[in-house]
Formats: sequence, structure tokens, C-alpha cells
Amino acid sequence: MSTARFVVFEGPDGAGKSTVLAEVARKLRDSGTDVVQTREPGGSPAAEAMRELLMQPAIQDAAVMSQLLLISAARVDHLDKVVRPALDRGATVLCDRYIDSSYIYQCRLGGVPVASLDALNTLLGVTPPTLRLFFELPAEVALARLSAREDSNRFDRHDETRWRQLAEAYQWRAQQEPDTVRVIDASAPLATVVQTCWEHIHEFD
Ligand code: TYD
Repeated sequence: MSTARFVVFEGPDGAGKSTVLAEVARKLRDSGTDVVQTREPGGSPAAEAMRELLMQPAIQDAAVMSQLLLISAARVDHLDKVVRPALDRGATVLCDRYIDSSYIYQCRLGGVPVASLDALNTLLGVTPPTLRLFFELPAEVALARLSAREDSNRFDRHDETRWRQLAEAYQWRAQQEPDTVRVIDASAPLATVVQTCWEHIHEFD
């Protein structure tokens, strides 16, 4: 049986992680690997329903701890129905966002103490990732990509400040998990980024 791998892709919006994840999944499948592509919040029917709830304006305004509990509730079902069964049969799971997003968005940016999330994860028996790929790119590149993608009027100084806070939060988190985090230069061409991810995945075999 092949080695089970749980690889998570993390990074700010606009870093291209979803596109890269799909490419890495294709390459792994072409090489005969059993691959499961998934995401958080979501990834299982119940967790996707909870994701819908999370996107509602009333929930977006809820206390950060309430949001974290909902994200964690979704995570438990996702792990139970999708991630663990796949790892048990030796598959490679590629997940778009996972617990590091909770540490970054709900703890570092949202104010939930890290110790609370650590305790919650222990209580819930959250499976740790094998490898965390952190996509990093200069703010100017990210903001330019986002403006091209959306209505450019939507991006102002507030977005830039928020984006820089997010980038700092990713660096903070990377320092907490140095053994399993690999920082990816997401401003490189797609083929280079895919190749770098591929090499890191095999580094953990
Ligand atoms: P998504 O559309 O997947 O964002 P992106 O395209 O940026 O990956 O939406 C996921 C959003 O949920 C994203 O803004 C980050 C947030 N999130 C958290 O706040 N905490 C978490 O634990 C997770 C998994 C996601």
C-alpha cells in the first residue's frame, strides 16, 4: 500500500493555491497515486452545508468563537467522512485550507487565544497534516491579481492593510510549525510552483 499523505494548501486569497492544488492532483494521479482533492470549510456534504451557513452575513458578524466552533464542527465531519477514510486506505489527501487557516484567521486576526484552539483541536482529535504548503507572494502582486479578477474599485487602502496583516499572520504561523511548513513563492510561474510543491510532497515520503 502507498504511503498516506495529508497535504494542506494555505495562503491568502489570490495566491493561486486552488489552481496549483488541481495541477498537483492531476500530476499525482498521472503517476498512479490515489488522490483525494478536498477543501475547508467543507469537503463533506454536512461540512459543505455548514460552509453555506458560514457565508451568511449574520454568521459573518457572529462572535469569532462561534465561527470557530462552526468551522470546527464542519472539520469533524470532514475528517470523519472524507479525510481519515482516505488516509486509512493509503491515499494522498490534498486539502485547500485546514487548521492553519483557523490559527491565522480566528486566532491571530480574530483574537481567539491559541491555547483555546489547541485545546479544542485536542478535544476533537483533529488529525495533523503531514505537510503544510504556505503560499506567499508580495502584496503588490496579490493586490494586482485580485483587482484584475474582481471589480477594481473594490480594492482600496483598507484591503491593502488587511492583506498585509494576513501576510504577517502567515509568517507568524509558519514559525510555529517549522518542521512541516514549506513556504512557496507563489509569484513564480505556475509550472515552477507546481514542481516545487511536488518536490516538497516527495520530501516527506
Ligand atoms: P474560500 O472561498 O475558500 O477562500 P479562498 O479562495 O481565499 O481560499 O473561503 C474560505 C474562507 O474561509 C477564507 O476567507 C478563509 C476562511 N477560513 C477561516 O477563516 N478559518 C478556517 O479555519 C478556514 C478553513 C477558512
